Amino acid sequence: MSTNTVDNQRKVTTLRLAEMKARGEKIAMLTAYDYSMAKLIDEAGMDVILVGDSASNVMVGNTTTLPMTLDQMIYHARSVTNGTKRALVVCDLPFGTYQGNSKEALASAVRIMKESGAEAVKIEGGAEIRESIERILCAGIPVMGHLGLTPQSINKFGTYAVRAKEEAEANKLIEDAKMLEEIGCFAMVLEKIPAELAKRVAESVSIPVIGIGAGGGCDGQVLVMHDMLGINKGFSPKFLRRYADLSTVINDAVGHYIDDVKSGDFPNANEQY
Ligand code: KIV
Repeated sequence: MSTNTVDNQRKVTTLRLAEMKARGEKIAMLTAYDYSMAKLIDEAGMDVILVGDSASNVMVGNTTTLPMTLDQMIYHARSVTNGTKRALVVCDLPFGTYQGNSKEALASAVRIMKESGAEAVKIEGGAEIRESIERILCAGIPVMGHLGLTPQSINKFGTYAVRAKEEAEANKLIEDAKMLEEIGCFAMVLEKIPAELAKRVAESVSIPVIGIGAGGGCDGQVLVMHDMLGINKGFSPKFLRRYADLSTVINDAVGHYIDDVKSGDFPNANEQY
């Protein structure tokens, strides 16, 4: 359980996130993809649970997020909402389900809301997908933007390196962030951009800015659960802080179980009927 006792039991809504930003309270967000982990993360006091399309990497073992389908996202999001009582649950719109046209984007977002019980969607991109975001917002669906390193565009970028280091890209990001605020997004993620730029954006928009690899000047932080719990030890970017070494814990526990089965120690007389 978090040591932060402010409003620990109260349901988190988009309105509460706005209030948190207004009073300078940082927002904690973490990914989850299944019922059991969502329940643990929610009970620990998380503000926002993101059903990220990073499920493609950490749950399926793909090298990019691109293969994730709408059906798969809905399956993960339903599992997460089943385990969540307090946190706001946000679900990613996967690659190819919103870029074609705004009606397709709305249909995808509606399916997520109806079939998974998620309370908002996240969508990658700026001006180029404005119409899609606006149509989703018109239907009363809260939208979280996502700028900077947008992993669904990895084939265009050709690298997972820090984005918006050059002035032109930084200026476009600032414009996109203002646009997301203006059209009514409730929050945005800024991924892997210089800390100074992220701080500037967070200070210039009224909606919460959640960073990942974007420094401490953001209004909140998000990490991928498998990375911060040390389940996925092959991924060690500079921005990542590991809070546990679960791969070692699991390896030791599973090894112990195998030894006990092989030696006949498990089950013992008290562990049978
Ligand atoms: O899919 C995801 O997990 C994300 C976070 C990295 C922000 O988009």
